[in-house]
Amino acid sequence: MKIALGSDHGGFELKEIIKAHLEEKGIEVVDCGTNSSESVDYPEFGYKTAKAIIDGVCERGIVVCGTGIGISISANKVKGIRCALCGDCYSARMSREHNNANMLALGGRVTGRDLALEIVDVWCHTEFQGGRHERRVNKISDIEGNNMI
Ligand code: RB5
Repeated sequence: MKIALGSDHGGFELKEIIKAHLEEKGIEVVDCGTNSSESVDYPEFGYKTAKAIIDGVCERGIVVCGTGIGISISANKVKGIRCALCGDCYSARMSREHNNANMLALGGRVTGRDLALEIVDVWCHTEFQGGRHERRVNKISDIEGNNMI
């Protein structure tokens, strides 16, 4: 599985830690920036990372900003993206099993390094359960396509 990574300055340090961690485990990553702690705007990097999924360059993506909020909101504006902001392993697992989240967001100023890496591992290794959850996820797509007015 190839994973796209993106962050703003608030998430840069954690993004680099996640990148090294995934590469060490033999998981290929595509780094969508940012590339330093210099101040940047999170929507640009949420979008770039989401685009890598939608364009089929990567199967999934992980984004980090200070809280994870701005960058997850930005990624979720891209059609087809289901980005889950997680601060615990249970939510990370559920976001895959029930919501088929194709992106994970973390708060670099909120979640500590070790917990963040556990969340990443759980999220990367959990599969979507399908079944009744598929029906619900399809309804999210319906909302996106304006079919539920
Ligand atoms: C940047 O200071 C900060 O606002 C950003 O990283 C993020 O937390 C926004 O949601």
